[in-house]
Amino acid sequence: MEFEIRNHPKFYNVYISGNPENPKLFTKNLIPGISVYGERLIQFRDFEYREWDPYRSKLAALLIKNPIHNFFSKKFNCLYLGASSGTTISHLSDINTEGIIYGVEFAPRSIRQLIQNSEKRNNIIPILGDANLPENYANTIFNKIDLIYQDVAQPNQAEIAIKNSEYYLKKGGIVILAIKSQSIDSVGNLDKIFNQEKQAIGKANMEILESISIQKHAEKHIMLIIKK
Ligand SMILES: C[S@@+](CC[C@H](N)C(=O)[O-])C[C@H]1O[C@@H](n2cnc3c(N)ncnc32)[C@H](O)[C@@H]1O
Repeated sequence: MEFEIRNHPKFYNVYISGNPENPKLFTKNLIPGISVYGERLIQFRDFEYREWDPYRSKLAALLIKNPIHNFFSKKFNCLYLGASSGTTISHLSDINTEGIIYGVEFAPRSIRQLIQNSEKRNNIIPILGDANLPENYANTIFNKIDLIYQDVAQPNQAEIAIKNSEYYLKKGGIVILAIKSQSIDSVGNLDKIFNQEKQAIGKANMEILESISIQKHAEKHIMLIIKK
């Protein structure tokens, strides 16, 4: 089969190549010529694409699993908790060219790299902050949020998602929550730990639309798609 990069059948501004059952993912490079974290750049027809590796990004691992719900639109405002040095958020920046992504990160070294990596990406606003304390970054966030993406290795992952949703998320907005069981309990039963986090979400009156294992790409992780 001839190599071809084409639109993802469902997710706006996401691109695929190869077998639809097990595609390679790409985003169109917002800043052509620049690779953010060593990912492959590929020129196809008139555009440059960045390969999006599901082993490096849990969001890519989720998309590979083809969730039912579509959480990208042409323009959305996103709060990204645990932005680190900028791997996944750089792909969100390629996707969400008309909206804003606020990236919260508490490790000074990572935020320094994030600032460097997003210097030319005008839709990323890096914030040095602790996701446990959403009120502390309220003076930096100027829009109601449509989508929260959370990937923080903390023992209280559901609680952090709930607090930030209450503070920033629109009614009807979506949370994509990466849950890493090992950060909650390193020896406990996986299902028990995941269920405990899901119950906490349910008690906060949020609806879990989908629960998807991404263990093939990220050990001991599930992704929840949650609606406020
Ligand atoms: C697994 S890494 C995130 C990787 C990133 N999401 C990506 O795909 O490019 C988790 C990040 O969360 C950050 N983090 C952990 N606890 C946090 C907190 N309470 N507030 C903000 N950031 C936090 C860590 O410093 C780390 O950079």
